[in-house]
Amino acid sequence: MAQQEFIIQRYNPDTDESYEESFNVDVQPGQTVLDSLNAIKWEQDGTLSFRMSCRHAICGSCAMKVNGQSMLSCQTQVDAAAERGDPIRVGPQGNQHVIKDLVVDVEKFLLQFERAETWLEPYEDQDPPEREYRQKVEEFDHWSHASTCIHCGACYSDCTVAAVDENFLGPAALAKAYRFVMDSRDSKREERLQFLSEEQGGIWDCTRCYMCVQACPKDVLPMDAIMELRTLAIEAGHVNNHGVRHHKGFMSGVRKRGRLDEMMLPVQSVGIGRLLTGNLAAHKEMMDYTPGAIRLLKSRKLLTIAQRHGANAEGREQIERIFEEVEAEKHHHDVDAEAFGAEFETAIGGH
Ligand code: SF4
Ligand code: SF4
Ligand code: FES
Repeated sequence: MAQQEFIIQRYNPDTDESYEESFNVDVQPGQTVLDSLNAIKWEQDGTLSFRMSCRHAICGSCAMKVNGQSMLSCQTQVDAAAERGDPIRVGPQGNQHVIKDLVVDVEKFLLQFERAETWLEPYEDQDPPEREYRQKVEEFDHWSHASTCIHCGACYSDCTVAAVDENFLGPAALAKAYRFVMDSRDSKREERLQFLSEEQGGIWDCTRCYMCVQACPKDVLPMDAIMELRTLAIEAGHVNNHGVRHHKGFMSGVRKRGRLDEMMLPVQSVGIGRLLTGNLAAHKEMMDYTPGAIRLLKSRKLLTIAQRHGANAEGREQIERIFEEVEAEKHHHDVDAEAFGAEFETAIGGH
């Protein structure tokens, strides 16, 4: 048996006091961080608060930050978390209000599932089946990873967008939305794709930082699901929105000029057509970009006239080659995807 130091981030709501507290725990091989928190609570300080239930990585209630990263404390062994005898730091999940010690208010996180309406909407012109709604194994295979979510909130806790945007649906709700978009028994595929494309805080607000994939204990791959939703939304024709315009502006700038054109990007994202037709909302969006544009100007990050008109032609040829290779690759992928698409259409077409 060895001793391990834990430094726990604590919060007392009665005094509104936040502080760190150190505890030493006797640990055995295979002991988890949650076992150690229980040992502290039972033997040293009964006021320490945290959530737990199953202790088998099933209920999702024990997610917290261990050494700065969100994970299930019942799935994390002390040996794996302790580096070179350093203390293990334990804190509450991020992006949520702390109620006491390691307990956070999960309401904001769970509300995102309600916003995204993540439940099955069966076809109304079908009689309900006598038993369950059935799905083919091949269809299920395409989204099975997204169905394993245990709502632990680890992805939301580490999400870099949820940290700055209260309105972001977040990785878990978006992955769950993907699960229903892909489900051939669901009748609201189109409405879902439209909502997710146009809603502020939807699929286009993800910055692809990968943190959700890293944090998820169940390999749900939320970021991959969000990227897939973007492709599906574009293929379904949901292209008249800020996210798609931003994406296209980004690509065309790099392709034409060999680098990001930060002066044109806001104009392209807001929509040249919307601006020219005097759309008031579009002009307001442009005004919102003004402070950022001034900062770019001051830090000389905007393209020079020479760069805008063809400097660095050799570099641009290389970039054009990369674009062509990616397009060729995408063509092969599309041919493969077509087979599944046809199968999917047949499955939902027969309702
Ligand atoms: S990849 Fe997107 S959803 Fe995932 S953590 Fe980053 S910003 Fe959030
Ligand atoms: S996607 Fe993964 S990390 Fe996020 S809530 Fe579900 S199981 Fe937890
Ligand atoms: S206690 Fe249930 S997942 Fe950890």
